[in-house]
Amino acid sequence: DMMREVLGLKELERKIKKKLPVEDVIVVAGDSDQSPWVKREMGRACVSRIKHSLKGNDIVAVTGGTTLAAVAEMMTPDVKYRDVLFVPARGGLGEDVTNQANTICARMAEKAMGHYRLLHVPDQLSAETYQSIIEEPAIKEVLELIKSSTIVIHGIGDAKTMAERRKTPPEEMTKIEQNKAVAEAFGYYFNQDGEVVHKVNTVGIQLEDVRHVPCVIAVAGGASKAKAIQAYMKQANRCILITDEGAAKQLVRDD
Ligand code: G3H
Repeated sequence: DMMREVLGLKELERKIKKKLPVEDVIVVAGDSDQSPWVKREMGRACVSRIKHSLKGNDIVAVTGGTTLAAVAEMMTPDVKYRDVLFVPARGGLGEDVTNQANTICARMAEKAMGHYRLLHVPDQLSAETYQSIIEEPAIKEVLELIKSSTIVIHGIGDAKTMAERRKTPPEEMTKIEQNKAVAEAFGYYFNQDGEVVHKVNTVGIQLEDVRHVPCVIAVAGGASKAKAIQAYMKQANRCILITDEGAAKQLVRDD
């Protein structure tokens, strides 16, 4: 910690805590917009934070994204994970397979040597098929496990970047732009005041559920995400933020 004090990371953490209603914040050195390995450093910090928060038979819900993929890569086995179950936080959000919550969930659980359950619900379904699929006992069981998550780990994205990366239909794209969305997290889009302006319809954890989860960890870095992080945190409840110097410096500078 002496080194982190010398590097000014501790000072950035203190400033962020004053500015944003976060439960805790960890700032790692570097800017993940510039150096991709910084995501792995956030991943490392996240892994040690998860271990610190484990109670025993936790259910850990994870979202998709490149940052969460880095968290999964940095995961290491521990006896503490013996009775831990990993689940995807929500169903499909239109991401490519590498960025999907299912993929990351399986990878993280394998590295932790824990257990996992996946959510096999296709993205594009008629309302009718959707209703019957979520009534399937095997699907229903996973959905119930997801709703009883004790730890949620999620990324935060820049709204435009995320909407473009996912195959967002033109009319939803217009809605996201017209409502001035700046942030995205688990399929919800937020304006700069932290208000939801759009959500992707899918099963799994909903924003209301996240508020009741005992431990929520958001992992997001890069100067380009500062506005998104700030907006998201306006509505978050006792969220632990793991970020990098790039985002942190921009955050304490912004109004
Ligand atoms: O769900 C995706 C996150 O909101 C951000 O994705 O980690 O690839 O930037 P990312």
